[in-house]
Amino acid sequence: MSNFKWTFHNKGGRRYVKTNYDCCAADGSMRQQWKHAVIVVCVIFIILNISLYSNTIAWSDLNMNNIIYEDSIKFRKLLEQDQFSEKFHPVGTKRRFPQCIIFGVRKCGTRALLEFIGLHPQVQNAEHEMHFFDEDEKYNLGLEWYRKQMPYSYPEQITVEKSPRYFITEKVPERISIMNSTIKLIVVLRNPTTRVLSDYTQVYYNKLAKGVTFQKIEELVIDPYTGEINTDYKAVRISIYHHHFERWLRVFKREQILIVDGDNLILDPVSEIKHVESFLGLEHYITQDNFYFNKTRGFFCKKQGSMEKCLGATKGRPHPGTHPSVIRKLNKFFKPHNEKLFKMINRTFKWS
Ligand SMILES: *[C@@H]1O[C@H](CO)[C@@H](O)[C@H](O)[C@H]1NC(C)=O
Ligand SMILES: *[C@@H]1O[C@H](CO)[C@@H](O)[C@H](O)[C@H]1NC(C)=O
Ligand SMILES: *[C@@H]1O[C@H](CO)[C@@H](O)[C@H](O)[C@H]1NC(C)=O
Repeated sequence: MSNFKWTFHNKGGRRYVKTNYDCCAADGSMRQQWKHAVIVVCVIFIILNISLYSNTIAWSDLNMNNIIYEDSIKFRKLLEQDQFSEKFHPVGTKRRFPQCIIFGVRKCGTRALLEFIGLHPQVQNAEHEMHFFDEDEKYNLGLEWYRKQMPYSYPEQITVEKSPRYFITEKVPERISIMNSTIKLIVVLRNPTTRVLSDYTQVYYNKLAKGVTFQKIEELVIDPYTGEINTDYKAVRISIYHHHFERWLRVFKREQILIVDGDNLILDPVSEIKHVESFLGLEHYITQDNFYFNKTRGFFCKKQGSMEKCLGATKGRPHPGTHPSVIRKLNKFFKPHNEKLFKMINRTFKWS
């Protein structure tokens, strides 16, 4: 049996502490017992703390208390660090496949929708866009990899993922259906003309930030030879919704897809979220109290207890001025396409 002996040394004016193993005196076993007792107490203390902490987190996920909510955000950030999360996550949670995917459309409010529905205690949303089904490199990593990217959730919670590019990527519906053919799908649509302007705006600001001059919207949208709408411009192609939607309806039943009105989501988020709650089979939980209108930003931001959170600065930016004749042309161009979509989805929107 061995025993610690602490010795203090003075070396060049500094004081060092050194430990030596010292072979057992008669009282050695007694000290050894003390040592064990101290270690046991320490371990119990640490375990108690960990379990208290994870219970706090568990509790906070189901309750909307703001202080603990902030803790849970910090905790979720920690969870993103893989090694940490594999060891510590709230008791009773695991990573699950999404039971619902928001699959588009870019610039129609998918981020807002995900953030808003994430206020529901029975929803866990994946923070980042996954791009699992549209990017071959990721898809080839397999479904198990995909599942491991999902947030931890309780059995009664629904995991939601959003990647707007799924909408326009050909292989995606088939791939999702291989994972789960009865999955619930949500798509957000806006007036296709507004969507083109918003799409242009995003690219415009990105280029501006890099100091690159960017073509005017008129030059991109209008074919200079014919004076008609340039259907080679990607922002226009994405807005021809029925071209893409058709692919989804070949694989999934119409009832599996909820269409959220992106224009109304801005004006009246609660009414749109109510449809989403019903579609997901959840109790109505989200009310007007979960939102406040931020006049500076010009849209609704979410509110949770005393915590208010707006979407990032890249959302809701004003669109650079567009000549009214271009807008008229876009509206005219999209009209027949919209009619086709309305028939396809058995629903009409006031887009003109
Ligand atoms: C597929 O999705 C549906 C709808 O969300 C869900 O009820 C079901 O459990 C999912 N199936 C599997 C195998 O994950
Ligand atoms: C609105 O949002 C801006 C920018 O995100 C923020 O600085 C401001 O405090 C918010 N205003 C209100 C009234 O909450
Ligand atoms: C279209 O929707 C209406 C109500 O909005 C419904 O009565 C009708 O059955 C639907 N038609 C099809 C073909 O789904």
